[in-house]
Amino acid sequence: MSSENLILVPNVVSSIALIIFLVGRFQVKRNLQLHIKLMSTAMIIDVLLVVALVITRNALGTVISGDMSGMLLIHVPIAISTVIGYGFATYFGLKLKKGQRQYLKHMRITDKVVVPLRILNTTTSWLLLV
Ligand code: HEM
Repeated sequence: MSSENLILVPNVVSSIALIIFLVGRFQVKRNLQLHIKLMSTAMIIDVLLVVALVITRNALGTVISGDMSGMLLIHVPIAISTVIGYGFATYFGLKLKKGQRQYLKHMRITDKVVVPLRILNTTTSWLLLV
């Protein structure tokens, strides 16, 4: 693969994870087991992607040094908030799985925050390349 195409790999991975995420999101009422599997898969891909970007592109170094500009200043806070949201979704999801229905309202609120954030995450990752 040429280096020009290689630069697109994280964005393509992020887009595939977004599709898995959205399909999983809309399986709640149809197939709960599939919902759980797809949400978990999408979140794992996202976390591995962040780890890969930290290792291969020194993403953490860029953030810590404050050497960010333009779209990165928008993308990074969205990406961090998304991962924090994943923590809540996993926590409430596991409670619901155990039958603790009182967490349904927490999951609904988390959903209203995480879904827009996750869409913005991939959108801003593409805008970084414009
Ligand atoms: C970012 C990830 C996730 C999002 C956005 C999400 C979203 C949702 C939404 C919108 C609901 C339905 C609430 C309602 O009925 O109005 C729900 C229900 C549920 N989710 Fe998730 N979820 C996520 C991750 C997970 C994970 C990781 C698990 C399991 C470990 C899980 C397990 C469940 C369960 C068990 C229910 C309850 C369904 C029911 O009893 O009616 N979710 N989720």
